[in-house]
Formats: sequence, C-alpha cells, structure tokens
Amino acid sequence: MDKLLIQGGVPLRGEVRVSGAKNAALPILCASILTARTLRVSNVPHLRDVTTTLTLLAQMGMDVALDERGGVALSAQRLDNRVAPYDLVKTMRASILVLGPLVARFGEARVSLPGGCAIGSRPVDQHIKGLQAMGASFEIEHGYIHARSERLRGVRIVMDMITVTGTENIMMAATLAEGTTVIENAAREPEVVDLAQCLIGMGAQITGHGTDVITVHGVHALHAADYAVMPDRIEAGTFLAAAAATRGEITLRSARVDSLDAVLGKLQEAGALIEVGDDWISLKQAARPAPVSVRTAPYPAFPTDMQAQVMALDCVADGTALITETVFENRFMHVQELRRLGAEIDVDGHTAVVRGVRGLSGATVMATDLRASACLVIAGLVAEGDTVIDRIYHLDRGYERIEEKLSHLGARIRRIR
Ligand code: UD1
Repeated sequence: MDKLLIQGGVPLRGEVRVSGAKNAALPILCASILTARTLRVSNVPHLRDVTTTLTLLAQMGMDVALDERGGVALSAQRLDNRVAPYDLVKTMRASILVLGPLVARFGEARVSLPGGCAIGSRPVDQHIKGLQAMGASFEIEHGYIHARSERLRGVRIVMDMITVTGTENIMMAATLAEGTTVIENAAREPEVVDLAQCLIGMGAQITGHGTDVITVHGVHALHAADYAVMPDRIEAGTFLAAAAATRGEITLRSARVDSLDAVLGKLQEAGALIEVGDDWISLKQAARPAPVSVRTAPYPAFPTDMQAQVMALDCVADGTALITETVFENRFMHVQELRRLGAEIDVDGHTAVVRGVRGLSGATVMATDLRASACLVIAGLVAEGDTVIDRIYHLDRGYERIEEKLSHLGARIRRIR
C-alpha cells in the first residue's frame, strides 16, 4: 500500500493550477446516462473516484472514450445493464448518482445500498423519497435498491435536509419527467449549479439552480453536448490552507474565486494576505496564524470538506479555536492522528477545541478518509522531521497528483510504494 513521506518545515512557494472539481465531475459523468447522444466532458480530474465512475458506466454497457487531453466522451446508446454493483458502490458512495438518471431514462435501476461509511451513516432516504414522489416504486432486495417506474411525473418535493447528491439525483431525474418538478430546500453548492449548467447544455429546462428552490420542466429527450467541469474549490482551499499553515506564498491558477468566499474569509481571519483576480488567488502568510473558529454547514457557509484542513491550520495557531461540525456525525477521526503529531485538541460532541501549539513533530499517521488525509498532509508539511502518512488511497480518491503539485511548490514530499 502506498504511503507519503513528508519532511516538513518548508514554506510553500510558487504557482499551481487547480484541477477540475471531483464533486462536479462525478454527477456530470452520470448525467450522460440521460441521453443516447454523446456527452463530451473536459477538465475531468484524474482521480480514483473518476476512474471508479467510468468503470461503473462502462460495465453498464456505456461507451467511454478518453482523449489525450483528459477529456471523456460518453455514449449511453448501448447501455443495457442498469446495475451499480456492490463492489463499486462500496468504494464510492457517489455511485448512487446513477439512480436518478437510470430510473428517468430506462424506468429501472438496481443500485447496491451504500453501507455505513467512515464519516457517519450517510443514508440515501432523501434520494428515494424524491424519486418515489415522482412515481418510482422501490424495493430493497439482497442489499440492492431496486427502483422501477413508468415515465416519472413532475411534483413539488420538499427535502427534509439539504443534501448535495440527493438534490443532484432528483434534478437529473426531473429533466426527463412529465411536467414540472420543484425541489425545495435544495442544495446550493456550486457543484449542483455546474451540473445544472451541463444539463441545460444538453437541452434540460432548469431554473433556480444556486438557490434553494430549483424548478425543472421535463422534456422528452436530451441531446449531445460539450461541457467543461468547474475548478475544484476544495482542492483550491486545501492548497491555500497548506500555504497559510507553512507561512508560505502561493498563487492558484484556474481557480473559481466566487465559490470560495467562506474559506477565503477564514484564511484572512488567520492573518493571510489574499488577492484575487478573475481566475486566480494569491495568498501570503507572514506571521504565525491567528486561530479561526468555524462551523460547517451547507453552501454558502463553511464547507465540511474543508473542516479537517482548517483544523490543521489551527493546530499551529497562536490561540484557541472552536471547530463545530454540523453536516456529518463522525468527522473528527483526524483528531487522534493530529495528536500523534503533537496537536492539542479536545473533542466534545460535535465541537473540537484546538489549542494552537508552536510546532508539530513528525510521526507515522494513518489517513482515515479523503479530507482527513489532506489535513494530515498539511500537518506533515508543518511538522519538524519526517511524517509518514499511511493509507493514502483515500487521498488518491480526491486529489490529482498532490505530491507532484506540492513538490512543485517546494515541499519535500514523496510517495513510497
Ligand atoms: C456531498 C459531497 C461531499 C460533501 C457533502 C456535504 C459529492 C460527491 N460529495 O456528499 O464531498 O462532504 O456533499 O457537502 O458531491 N443525508 C440524509 N439522507 C439523505 C442524504 C443525506 O440523512 O438521503 C444526510 C447525510 O447523512 C449528511 C447530510 O445529509 O449528514 C448531508 O449529506 P449530503 O449533502 O447528501 O452529502 P453527499 O451528497 O453524500
């Protein structure tokens, strides 16, 4: 199993390009199921979750063609297997994103029920509730969700809670439904907006994306389209947090500045000097960071996917910060590992109290989930001496060539096989 070896203590300096957003790419690739015509997607990041999604689509009978510039052409013309098997779903919960498109276009789907996952139970009841309201019937058989439907009907759906992939599944399904679907309490995440824009490019009639009420007028068929995935705001935020923690100076190219308001605000609170242009962000952190308290919540509030990284920053801040996680129930697993590096953190329910220390010291730590891994990388970049991060397959799920990008910024980091 691969590990990362980091020799910390070097401030990050230089320029780096932000990759395409994982959480936008995954639903957009699944949207290709909605049409028999070809969907061409560019700016697709090279990540394990993307490979898993393409494997899933290919085993359904879709034609998947990669081009040399990182684009993917997808055609569902020969899709004949409407199953998302356990082996793939267990490695990536986002496989559930095939459910809405399969039911809408083929009237049937069998998707392995995602089990518990490291960051909480993460049920999919809202996805099912929405599709049921649109006329689909559901059975759970042998660990699989089996959905069947005639043509779905447009309805008004009030989501019990804000769910990103739940909103995406229903929005995709609604594009082919008969009549109008209104999704209330919808997720406003930029990735939902990116998916909506791709669907509109394919001929869908959607309004209100980016607000909490999304309206979709169903059409009979969607057509071919070309779409470029938005830049990854979490990757961007991770690099910025790493630069702030190491007191460095970096510029991000190809960034989506407007998707990062909450994160940039917190980094400024930590003392970072931030400048932005149309598609770039520069950050300079001269002094020891000030502590920043955050409370995670759906967009546009502070993203749960940046919670662990900002905690790494707070570990070396000049004071005490409170970090409250409201989106997921069990998302503090990185705390134990950060303590091994010398961090002083107490957890009380959903809140972590982080008392900043002057420095961390390298140790062997274990990555437990995707963003926890990113947090350990940041801590390793700060710590004196060698940090070895085990189980970095989590990191490969969501960060494109992270050790290469960080090396380019001056970090002493390498992969050990
Ligand atoms: C997406 C992101 C993930 C991010 C999360 C929250 C993708 C591929 N993944 O995950 O990186 O951390 O949004 O921003 O886009 N819930 C239910 N029932 C449901 C659905 C969700 O109870 O049917 C709960 C979840 O357990 C969680 C909360 O709602 O507590 C939010 O989850 P959700 O927004 O659905 O997360 P994902 O879409 O899985």
